[in-house]
Amino acid sequence: MAKKLWGGRFKKKIDQDFFEFQKSIQYDHKLAKYDIVHSLLHVAALADAKLISNSEKQSLLSALKKIREQIKNNKFKFNPDSEDIHTDIHNKVENMAGKLALKLHTLRSRNDQVAFDEKSYCYAKSGDMIDLIGAITNSFQYLKNKYKNNTIVGYTHTQRAQKIFFRDYVNAYMGMFNKDKERLIKFHQGLKISIGAGALAGSLVKYNKAIKQFPEGNKFYQSVNTVYDVSERDFVIEFISHLSILQMHLSRLAEDFILYSTKEFNFIDLPEEFCTGSSMMPHKKNPDFLELVRGYTGRIYGNLMSILTTMKGLPLAYNRDMQLDKEPLFSSVETIEGELKIMAKFIKGIKLNEAVIKEVLKDEELSAVERAEKLVIKGISFKKAHDIIGRGVRDARI
Ligand code: ARG
Repeated sequence: MAKKLWGGRFKKKIDQDFFEFQKSIQYDHKLAKYDIVHSLLHVAALADAKLISNSEKQSLLSALKKIREQIKNNKFKFNPDSEDIHTDIHNKVENMAGKLALKLHTLRSRNDQVAFDEKSYCYAKSGDMIDLIGAITNSFQYLKNKYKNNTIVGYTHTQRAQKIFFRDYVNAYMGMFNKDKERLIKFHQGLKISIGAGALAGSLVKYNKAIKQFPEGNKFYQSVNTVYDVSERDFVIEFISHLSILQMHLSRLAEDFILYSTKEFNFIDLPEEFCTGSSMMPHKKNPDFLELVRGYTGRIYGNLMSILTTMKGLPLAYNRDMQLDKEPLFSSVETIEGELKIMAKFIKGIKLNEAVIKEVLKDEELSAVERAEKLVIKGISFKKAHDIIGRGVRDARI
């Protein structure tokens, strides 16, 4: 077990099984690059508050910057025996700067760090996600241009309804993804990252000056509502509920592609490089990517339910329960990032089987509404026209 950030008031050593049970390093190491920023700001603020000297500030900053370089270059190795990422980075600074590192955590709480780190993570990831959705809409645009004037069969209740332009079908999905993007842009732009809430009541360390020296300073602010800042995880819930809606759109798209690529429909050909075969049935080309996208919806909705339920009934302020928001958050983000990346390529590879579609479009029932319209133009009431065409269809089917 690595050194801990607490222990003075305890006589007994922590139970090893319990230590393993409660640690979070195995997943919160993903917050390392944001945690370093908290430490850089904190060291600057400690010097401003005259709690450390200028030379102490420089030594601590240089140790932290070395760790930041390791993280940037994928050279950072967390110690799996540390309790969490905050402890791990502290221990690493101690290894580099010796006793001086004991001042690093002056008047700071992990409750503040973890909120800061997670907000920073959500800010970065929502930004990435906005770009990935952009790639999806670009691919839709490509598909729309390729089949500019094609008509297809439109469905309601999965029954043939009316002819529609393929571009209008694509526009429907583009509309959904554009709305997802709008929601995420609003979330991203509205997210401000507070620092300085302490355990819950702030401290004499103030960050206003430190924030201004920082390049991304405009997205940080000195915590004013300190109890709120360590208590809420609304930003996590908001982010993954936007992601849940996005996932629902991806799942519907996946289902459409699965259905239309069956031999029964045969309207589209799926890009082979995203399909797999069967070990027994030589003829198979299975839409596994699409099935996994559809299947992951269970996990993404579950992640949202998980955090909502964890937060329900928590007394103010910070509670350790809140540690459990990280795995669902990371899971939703990583799953959807993967899906969007592949889906952008997948969409470009879709081919319309124009000959098959042309044949199906010959179905006269698809123009039933147009025929009723014609009667209406001639002065027949729509109710009557509906009836006449309906009877015609019935007779033709018998
Ligand atoms: N690992 C904790 C979390 O993710 C960090 C905060 C711990 N605070 C504490 N007082 N034990 O929420």
